[in-house]
Amino acid sequence: MEAPSVTPSKGHSSWQGALLTVSLLLSWSPPTAAQLTIESVPRAAAEGQDVLLRNPSQAEAAFYNWYKGNSVLIQNNRIGTYAVSSGIFTRGPAYTGRETIYPNGSLLLQNVTLADTGTYLLQRTKADGVPEALTGQILVFQALTKPSIQASNTTVSEHTGPVVFTCLTKHNGISISWFHDGERLRLTERMKLSQDNSSLTINPVRMEDAGKYQCEVSNPGNAQKSDSLTLTVEANASNSGLSAGAIAGIVIGVLACVSLVAALVYCLWVRKTAGAGDQHDLTEQKPSAANHNQEYSLPNMANEVAYTAVSFSTPQQPKTPTSDSPAPVATETIYTEVKKK
Ligand SMILES: *[C@@H]1O[C@H](CO)[C@@H](O)[C@H](O)[C@H]1NC(C)=O
Ligand SMILES: *[C@@H]1O[C@H](CO)[C@@H](O)[C@H](O)[C@H]1NC(C)=O
Ligand SMILES: *[C@@H]1O[C@H](CO)[C@@H](O)[C@H](O)[C@H]1NC(C)=O
Ligand SMILES: *[C@@H]1O[C@H](CO)[C@@H](O)[C@H](O)[C@H]1NC(C)=O
Ligand SMILES: *[C@@H]1O[C@H](CO)[C@@H](O)[C@H](O)[C@H]1NC(C)=O
Repeated sequence: MEAPSVTPSKGHSSWQGALLTVSLLLSWSPPTAAQLTIESVPRAAAEGQDVLLRNPSQAEAAFYNWYKGNSVLIQNNRIGTYAVSSGIFTRGPAYTGRETIYPNGSLLLQNVTLADTGTYLLQRTKADGVPEALTGQILVFQALTKPSIQASNTTVSEHTGPVVFTCLTKHNGISISWFHDGERLRLTERMKLSQDNSSLTINPVRMEDAGKYQCEVSNPGNAQKSDSLTLTVEANASNSGLSAGAIAGIVIGVLACVSLVAALVYCLWVRKTAGAGDQHDLTEQKPSAANHNQEYSLPNMANEVAYTAVSFSTPQQPKTPTSDSPAPVATETIYTEVKKK
């Protein structure tokens, strides 16, 4: 397929080649003299992509010659020539059918292969016949296929391990990176990568490790991500049971304390009410009431509670007494009665 395309171009370019050789011999300056460099878009490509080598200067030119390699002296490396005035493209020996020279001097190389990697040279011939040479690079990398991901376990209990993820790829010389829930994985001290990053070990596993895992293979030209694999982390039954037990214990303890206090307060209230009822005539003054209380089996305690309650509830008098505090209400009543009499 290549032979027929090369043969006519050779014949066609014979006069052009002769012309170029003459002009080169007369006034060719080495590429090192060039200040401008040719940019490759993209900078690094994958097999099958198209690459544009951009002519950095839009200074007027009569001819654009593109060469594979960095020498204009090897005519077999000439890809082609574009004559600006006529807009005619003439194939060179190195033309493969995938190259296009644009009117602005840039070269498009389609469907690149690994063999296209290398240096390219643009020779611009100005109207006054002084050629100028510029070079650029094309970097082509292997087109990568999607890797696959495996895990030693997809459902694990927290605090156990290890779980080992493996990235399966047929490519060599690639970089492997890991993703957790779509974000680049942040390695913790519980995670370890193998030397080539192809396996990820998590030990021990925590609840926060649950989620979707993906691996990505890449070279400078392209990257491919695997499908995602979900890791399920189950809460440790014994662990959660313990904490639930602790919570239950605390709740029960608090409830017990509250009921004890309530019972005690109720008990005191009953006693006090009974005492107050018996001693209406004797409670003209607080001290006498207090003295009288000493006759009961728990007199000191009763006094203390009663006085504390009184002093405590005094500043709260404007507020309506609440139902869950029977002691202050009762004490207050008594106190009021005492005061009134
Ligand atoms: C030159 O022309 C091509 C095709 O129209 C375009 O893609 C490119 O951006 C132009 N400029 C340069 C500097 O290559
Ligand atoms: C690109 O090149 C490969 C061989 O290198 C060929 O198999 C494929 O058909 C080409 N694709 C196009 C779109 O020309
Ligand atoms: C992973 O699975 C294997 C087999 O099912 C089991 O023996 C091992 O204990 C599991 N490891 C973890 C960390 O769950
Ligand atoms: C492995 O991954 C780390 C980041 O997680 C990265 O810095 C390193 O370059 C990778 N190594 C290889 C060989 O892919
Ligand atoms: C969690 O359960 C596993 C067994 O499933 C056990 O080996 C581990 O010690 C437990 N860890 C804690 C913190 O309870």
